[in-house]
Amino acid sequence: MRKKIVAGNWKMNLDFQQGISLFSEIVNMAKDEVVGQQQVVVCSPFIHLHGIAQLAKGTSRVAIGAQNIYFEEKGAYTGEISATQVKSAGAEYVILGHSERRAYFNESDELLSKKVDAALSHGLIPIFCIGETQEEREAGRYFDVIRGQLEKGVFHLPSEVFNKVVLAYEPVWAIGTGLTATPEQAQEVHAFIRQQVAGQYNQSVADQLTILYGGSCNPKNAPELFAQADIDGGLIGGASLKSRDFIDIVKVFN
Ligand code: 13P
Repeated sequence: MRKKIVAGNWKMNLDFQQGISLFSEIVNMAKDEVVGQQQVVVCSPFIHLHGIAQLAKGTSRVAIGAQNIYFEEKGAYTGEISATQVKSAGAEYVILGHSERRAYFNESDELLSKKVDAALSHGLIPIFCIGETQEEREAGRYFDVIRGQLEKGVFHLPSEVFNKVVLAYEPVWAIGTGLTATPEQAQEVHAFIRQQVAGQYNQSVADQLTILYGGSCNPKNAPELFAQADIDGGLIGGASLKSRDFIDIVKVFN
């Protein structure tokens, strides 16, 4: 069975103390009976990584992730952070290709594929985000857009490396808008993604791949979304900033 994951993306929220408090609440609530088999991940701003990693010690129930890395290993890249650096602070995962980074920081497919390589070669698991804008959906181009993002971002990987990647389908029009994709809309795209992966690699690689849904996911809509055959969990923005809501989403799999 493929891995189920509920990952929080705190984005650029919470000062240091607030992040520590929220993470402590999450760890306290994430008891064995709550977490079950699914993997819980919290992707914090860089400043929290080391602090929350200390709190996560001694529990395998909550893993830590970053929200970005630069692809170079080290050197004169003022303001950037490498895979090795976030790993040394305790991160196991890294979100790459988020639509906010593609849109506001002009991250191209080419740059993203280098970041994916850097993450994987340093043992970080990329949570690679793909998804169409409202305009692209309305124009009926969403399958093409998603296919292109996969081809340019991750399909250069050999299958034994691709196996380590987690994908997240995040329709841009559903992020932070309160407009969730319907379970049918999300399932349609998740099934399409899995089919593309089967075509590029093989059915067994596709069957093992964890594909998360992201975009206004909350404790109310998560049960129906996560019940879809090809949806293996969620990448949660706003609702991951409230420990109760986040844990309620984690519990959907129990
Ligand atoms: P929201 O859950 O706030 O819509 O954000 C989704 C997201 O972008 C997660 O990466």
